[in-house]
Amino acid sequence: MRFVWFVLFSALLTAGPALMPRPAKMEPLSGAQKVDAAFRIAFQRAAAPRLQRAAARFLERLTAQTGIPLKRGPAASVGAANFIIDCAQTVDAPLTLEENESYRLQVNVEQTRLTSPTITGALRGLQTYLQLVEVSGKGFAAPSVIIEDSPRFPWRGLLIDVTSHFMPVPVIERTLDTMEAVKLNVFHWHLTDDQGFRVESKVFPKLHTLGTEGDFYTQAEIRHIVAYARDRGIRVLPEFDMPGHSGTWLIGYPELASAPGPYSIIHTFGVYDPALDPTNEAVYAFIDRLVAEMAGLFPDAYFHIGGDEVNGRQWKQNASIQAFIKQRGLKDEAGLQTYFNQRVLPILKKHGKRMMGWDEILHQDLPKDIMVEAWQNHESLAQAAQRGYKGLLSFGYYLDHLKLAGDYYAVDPVGGPAATLTAEQKKNILGGEACMWTEFISPETIDSRMWPKSAAVAERLWSPATVTDVADMYRRLDVVTHRLTFAGARHVTNYEPMLRRIAPFAPIDALRTLADTLDPTGIEHREVFQRYTQETELNRLVDAARGDSAVVRGLESDVREWLRAPTPEREAAIRRVLTAWRDNHARLLPHAPASALLAEFLPLSEDLARLGAAGLAAMDLLASRRADAAWAREQAPLLDRTAKVRLEVRMAAAQPVRLLVEGVSR
Ligand code: ACM
Repeated sequence: MRFVWFVLFSALLTAGPALMPRPAKMEPLSGAQKVDAAFRIAFQRAAAPRLQRAAARFLERLTAQTGIPLKRGPAASVGAANFIIDCAQTVDAPLTLEENESYRLQVNVEQTRLTSPTITGALRGLQTYLQLVEVSGKGFAAPSVIIEDSPRFPWRGLLIDVTSHFMPVPVIERTLDTMEAVKLNVFHWHLTDDQGFRVESKVFPKLHTLGTEGDFYTQAEIRHIVAYARDRGIRVLPEFDMPGHSGTWLIGYPELASAPGPYSIIHTFGVYDPALDPTNEAVYAFIDRLVAEMAGLFPDAYFHIGGDEVNGRQWKQNASIQAFIKQRGLKDEAGLQTYFNQRVLPILKKHGKRMMGWDEILHQDLPKDIMVEAWQNHESLAQAAQRGYKGLLSFGYYLDHLKLAGDYYAVDPVGGPAATLTAEQKKNILGGEACMWTEFISPETIDSRMWPKSAAVAERLWSPATVTDVADMYRRLDVVTHRLTFAGARHVTNYEPMLRRIAPFAPIDALRTLADTLDPTGIEHREVFQRYTQETELNRLVDAARGDSAVVRGLESDVREWLRAPTPEREAAIRRVLTAWRDNHARLLPHAPASALLAEFLPLSEDLARLGAAGLAAMDLLASRRADAAWAREQAPLLDRTAKVRLEVRMAAAQPVRLLVEGVSR
């Protein structure tokens, strides 16, 4: 009986507060705790400075979210506090992979108590409370509830590539704030590549001075970001990609290269030839000194050496490298790369670091304490785990593919080919990382490519494996996406300015209506249309459009429901959207002559009007119960054309209209 009630209340709570990730356990209580200007915090025990700073940020966020001017000062006594933090860890310690992130949050009408064994656990609980607070009929309040929560996986990362496009410090800061909001706990910083060497090196200054055009992080900035992340319970994993993707190392230090050079910054994207020479002892001496310097900046136990996409071309063309491969019996270029990794391993160990790399580094000759990040496929992770290696999944979490949140949500590190592993082998899979490669992404557009999608990945990695309901995920995501704005993310706030820039005098709602129906495509489609470089402007409709829009998702769901069970309310809702689409082009057209950025997308705007008209016509036919197969066939060219990728976008509007047209042909 108790179980039945629990399920019933859980269902109510599910439809209530939009928590993301969903906690491991929630038990709703009756009532709610009011949040008003009298709200005060107290610590049950001495609070370490990191926890005190977290409490101050918590109040700041709560003020931002509610508009209520909260006072920073503590409550007069623990008994008088509205919110008690009871954290057993009173002395701070370095963040580790083994960090205990669990917490218990009991929200009562009078008083909330957050209990945790660690400061990091308390941080996670504070974020849950922030997600509980919502406006109600009686002002802002958090529903009474008991939450007992801990993560499913200990490694829940987000990679940002700052080489293809440099991401200034404020972008990194707001990303860390937003990561904290959804309980992501590793910031993987892809710092070096053929397009840039983005860290200041005092030991080898030609790395950043010649490896960038001024866009790099000073050591002071690196220290600031590491501390900023640590305050938020986020480990920073630096990646120095080697032996490939290393062209910018070789500009100032060509003696490390496998071919004579000269080398320069590569402003385009892809896989290029430059590679360190694994047969050259000077290379290892260089890496030793560089790792020594960087170990002083990055305190985390793990050090990512990349290792991806070594094309081996320079090694093949170098006779002395080929002779080395033969002499040592290394078989081929892949064997040479493993030799290189074996040489780098003790260097990392000497500086207190564990080796991590992309799945190309996986080789039986490397010890089991390396960490493998699977990006090429899911099988490599399953194989690594089976052979006793620890690993992470990134394949399927590539944000630069610009898939829908639901697509990322469906990917489980221990699903797919890993599902058949034994329980013991599955333990080798420590989590995953969403990857934000930035070939086609600027500091202005990066937020809408990361958020809110990464919240869906965060839930997959934090919440129990059984939390898989996509409709419920989207229900919560559509609320959480606006909360992330208060955390600092700009996917909402950058949208309108980018649209206004495209056509300053056009009605903003008309621009928005068009952009809301477009799914921008990812890396696999963009270069088909034009050649991109680091200098290419990213100011077009494809860059402003965010995709996965609630308007189109809502319409598609309404259409499916209406076709199954028509109601006048649903019909009216569908007609409202289709009518807006039909009439939108006429509102934008007069503004096209003044804007090349708008004119470019007129064919899609015109097709949106046609889709709206076709959808309305289909509804008229369906309402009068007339099947008209001939009419439906006539719509085929429009539906086929709009289903294709054009101008680097997909028209998401095509699918709901197709459903209506198919309804007519039956
Ligand atoms: C990668 O995407 N080359 C790791």
